[in-house]
Amino acid sequence: MSSKKTANDIRATFLDYYKSQGHAVVDSSPLVPRNDPTLMFTNAGMVQFKNVFTGQEVRPYSRATTSQKCVRAGGKHNDLENVGYTARHHTFFEMLGNFSFGDYFKDDAIKFAWDLITKEFGLPKEKLCVTVYHTDDEAAAIWKKVAGFGDDKIIRIPTSDNFWMMGDTGPCGPCSEIFYDHGPHIAGGPPGSPDEDGDRFVEIWNLVFMQYEQVPDGEGGFKRLSLPKPSIDTGMGLERLTAVLQGVHDNYDTDLLRALILASADATGTSPDGPHAVSHRVIADHLRASAFLIADGVTPSKEGRGYVLRRIMRRAMRHAHILGAKDPVMHRLVPALVREMGGHYTELQRAQPLITETLRTEETRFKALLDRGLKLLADEEEKLSPTDPLPGQVAFTLYDTFGFPLDLTQDVLRAKKRPVDVDGFNAAMEEQRRKARAAWAGSGEAATEKVWFELKEEVGATEFLGYDTEVAEGQVTAILTPAGERLTSAAAGTDVIVVVNQTPFYGESGGQVGDSGVMFSGEGTEVTVRDTTKKLGAVFAHAAAVTKGNLSVGDVVEMRVDTTRRAAIRANHSATHLLHEALRRRLGEHVTQKGSLVAPERLRFDISQPNPLSAEDIRAVEEAVNARILGNSDVTTRLMTPDEAIALGAMALFGEKYGDEVRVVSMGGMEEGANKEFSVELCGGTHVRRTGDIGLFKIVNEGAVAAGIRRIEALTGRGAFEYLEEQEARLQQAASALKVPPAEVPAKVASLVEERRKLERELADLRRQVALGGGGTAAAPAAKDLGGVKFIGRVVADLPAKDLKPFADEMKKQVGSGVVTVISVADGKASIVVGVTEDLTSRISAVDLVKVGAAALGGKGGGGRPDMAQAGGPDGGKADDAVAEIETAVSQAVAAAA
Ligand code: ALA
Repeated sequence: MSSKKTANDIRATFLDYYKSQGHAVVDSSPLVPRNDPTLMFTNAGMVQFKNVFTGQEVRPYSRATTSQKCVRAGGKHNDLENVGYTARHHTFFEMLGNFSFGDYFKDDAIKFAWDLITKEFGLPKEKLCVTVYHTDDEAAAIWKKVAGFGDDKIIRIPTSDNFWMMGDTGPCGPCSEIFYDHGPHIAGGPPGSPDEDGDRFVEIWNLVFMQYEQVPDGEGGFKRLSLPKPSIDTGMGLERLTAVLQGVHDNYDTDLLRALILASADATGTSPDGPHAVSHRVIADHLRASAFLIADGVTPSKEGRGYVLRRIMRRAMRHAHILGAKDPVMHRLVPALVREMGGHYTELQRAQPLITETLRTEETRFKALLDRGLKLLADEEEKLSPTDPLPGQVAFTLYDTFGFPLDLTQDVLRAKKRPVDVDGFNAAMEEQRRKARAAWAGSGEAATEKVWFELKEEVGATEFLGYDTEVAEGQVTAILTPAGERLTSAAAGTDVIVVVNQTPFYGESGGQVGDSGVMFSGEGTEVTVRDTTKKLGAVFAHAAAVTKGNLSVGDVVEMRVDTTRRAAIRANHSATHLLHEALRRRLGEHVTQKGSLVAPERLRFDISQPNPLSAEDIRAVEEAVNARILGNSDVTTRLMTPDEAIALGAMALFGEKYGDEVRVVSMGGMEEGANKEFSVELCGGTHVRRTGDIGLFKIVNEGAVAAGIRRIEALTGRGAFEYLEEQEARLQQAASALKVPPAEVPAKVASLVEERRKLERELADLRRQVALGGGGTAAAPAAKDLGGVKFIGRVVADLPAKDLKPFADEMKKQVGSGVVTVISVADGKASIVVGVTEDLTSRISAVDLVKVGAAALGGKGGGGRPDMAQAGGPDGGKADDAVAEIETAVSQAVAAAA
């Protein structure tokens, strides 16, 4: 055997070897499969290549190699219960693999594998043997040639052990496995022998000769189609290989896992070996699974993937408890894990704060429950004989009240060999559901809400994948009409609401609008999603129309969010957070959010604020937000309890109901002197990765919506840019109309306004002079003598009504004693003023005369004093008649008085 390599060296050697053989080194895909909604977690290296094998997807390479993160817990492959108690079970492990997509086949696959393990890794031939599928003569012949094995070392296996399938459906084929013989000192026989399950012969590598795709046959069964080209998929557990290469029998004795066990021993002050070995193994394994799942976006919850994570975490925490840990321990082991694995899996470094806090939060919360639950369990056990199973109802109480996953209770009782009445547990669970349904039925909620309640019971909460991806597959779990009736399928042209088990579409909430996009199924079905909402906070309803083909319950659909629209929404949402904080800093702490709308084209933000924002306020807020955008710092999301979040200074909405755990979004960069980012808010929405992605921020509107509430509307990114472009185009238009450069527009406009004011004044003066017959040219108007009373009547054009009285005063001065009237006609309408000199007012009233004039002009009324009265009328054309009538009236008044 060559000198001891670390697990990290072994991984690198594997990938380098295949790289040198023309393989693309591809990153591990996330643990949450993007391309298979029926899989709980990625459980093999080939999962990310599933569609490449079937020819649906084309990649720029036909040979690939990976070290794939895998989790086998909760789903079809579930190793959770055995972890800690065996040498080779893990919930998380790494699968080394090489893949050929219609490139090489059995020949090269076997040659590469043999070359690598015997030459690069130096394993002795006599320690190895292989299996082939019993009918695969071809593989047997290749092994004979390549390894020089006799038939005794090429074991034919007739069972499904040597026919590999990913699941019920998907690519599959016969396989050939390589075994390592740990030696006769360990019990066990070669594969295919009666005692093959012993630990002596360990399978280290599985070479799958992918030839078929298994699909539903439409009659409840399955059929196999040939793949377009024969392909290769191999899988070798890094942990097992490392054990072999490091000369140990137990995976947990390899360098990487041992380092984690030592960290656990150190953190708890216990011995790594001896009676506590099982607990340390559980902790080491579950630490890896939890950390990698959290890094890939899974968060502990009550359902689905989140619940599997919670089970793993709580199981580890129970073992920390066994080790006597008084305070949360798991989060203290994260640095050791990052040290061991963060070099290759950089996501561990990136997500380290999130992993740490999620573990700490979960453990802090569970600790109190754990103590009390274990006490209850001990009390209940007192009542039982050593062989009695634990009643299902007790297991259910532990689950329901103390947060004990069933497997945790089973794990506690395992050492005592006491089983749990699982049927009783399930019955108690069902009874609780029934009661919840009955309570709901009696609550008188709208019928459509009832549909959603039932649906939630039946299909569970929709898993939201959209924080990490905008494309994912989902399985249709229900189809409804817009009125809420259930359908089993819908044809093209139908409006429907689609429910899937998991979705990248954001369901409207927290002010952020729902996503739109499309869904496709392999059969040529196309569905346009208009909007997405969240029912009962859990079930995502995709309001959609089937545009092509037929959509049925059970279909697997590829779901694509409209990414341009989502990017704009994200920018507006992050900008809203920055705006919120900038407003508080500018206007004061009294500013709180009163409403928010985050749409793709704009954002709207209502705040408690008594006074309007000044232009300087708006400018300062814009400036502050744009400075954070230019800072281009990371936007981070963490999970914590609401209390912790608030202790951290996160802005929460008063009166809002938050769950046990909240997402805390921080952005804007660390504040100098404060241990906090610029903006820290509780938020379930989607955000940009870095503030720079917002691009630009511009407030376009500020106004009142209600007493004490101001509304701000703003744009970001392209929208803001287009807005500014529009403003600039207007400025350009104005500049070219004014024939000055844009920079001179304000001065030019000011001078034009001043000039206009001056001209208006001059014009008014001129008009008055013309009207008075002045201006030095025209003769002064002659006054008529009406029985001893002088009278002047004039009609002028366009004299502003306000200038009529001063004008009449001047006329009165001209006549000295008498009656004057002036009518100004503008836009066809007339304004009239009548003036009577003081000496005559006892005999003649200007008010009476103006009424006569007004009547002639088609108007009514008129008012003023006996010496000066004013009126108006619509018939400007009758101005001369009006003058004549007033003249007559004056004559009559004079005659009457004589
Ligand atoms: N896909 C094969 C396995 O998981 C290599 O064993």
